[in-house]
Amino acid sequence: MAADLIVLDDAAALARHAAAWLLEKVGTADQGTGAVCLSGGATPRILYEALARRPYREAMPWAHIHWFWCDERFVPPADARSNYGMAQRLLLEHVPIRRENIHAIPTGCGTPGAAASAYEDELKRFYGARALAPGRPLFDVAFLGVGEDGHTASLFPGSAVLQERSLWAAAVPEAQPESRITLTYPVLESSRDVVFLVTGAAKRGIMQSIFDGATDAPAARLRPVGRVHWFVDRAAAPRHAA
Ligand code: 6PG
Repeated sequence: MAADLIVLDDAAALARHAAAWLLEKVGTADQGTGAVCLSGGATPRILYEALARRPYREAMPWAHIHWFWCDERFVPPADARSNYGMAQRLLLEHVPIRRENIHAIPTGCGTPGAAASAYEDELKRFYGARALAPGRPLFDVAFLGVGEDGHTASLFPGSAVLQERSLWAAAVPEAQPESRITLTYPVLESSRDVVFLVTGAAKRGIMQSIFDGATDAPAARLRPVGRVHWFVDRAAAPRHAA
């Protein structure tokens, strides 16, 4: 996988690096609009907490950045499992961000399919077209994680949604313990920069597999129009880089 791998000493150092990197990437968004797509799970918590503190709370051009989600569990925002709810509690309610810049996946839509369809419409409205152009990525940055089984977003091994190349967002009703909505490969790949945030010894196996060239892991199959970056702590780093 043509990508750059940055190994940080620990999760706290990774969070500081990712926050500084993001500021550099979108810090000049006052000349336009930045679009950042977030993931869920535990790892991004450290990034959200860093962005909600000095210097990032003051330095980021919050008014010019729009926030999206790579996937969501089909639960209400107040539920502890909600990816949006986690970002809202740790970051978004602590910074001067416009409500209209927050594009949560609408899990109040009745069914995961209806939520996915409504989110696809919102993504297309923001993008201003119904088809993605390779030279005009939807997202400036997409932050992703990777599961021990190699999943990313809610693109799980063996799932039919891995083959989806038309829909921008899809329901994953078979996900456990709750149904999910996920962005599909074409939309996640419509990113200038994709950043995988990976921490912890439990991820070393999947990281080694991906960096040894395994392509069966959904995370390894992502081919963004832009660059792929791996920000990994030492505990999760593949042997050659640890
Ligand atoms: C989610 C994420 C998911 C996550 C991985 C890694 O909604 O859970 O989108 O893809 O990134 O499962 O999760 P951890 O960061 O908790 O290891």
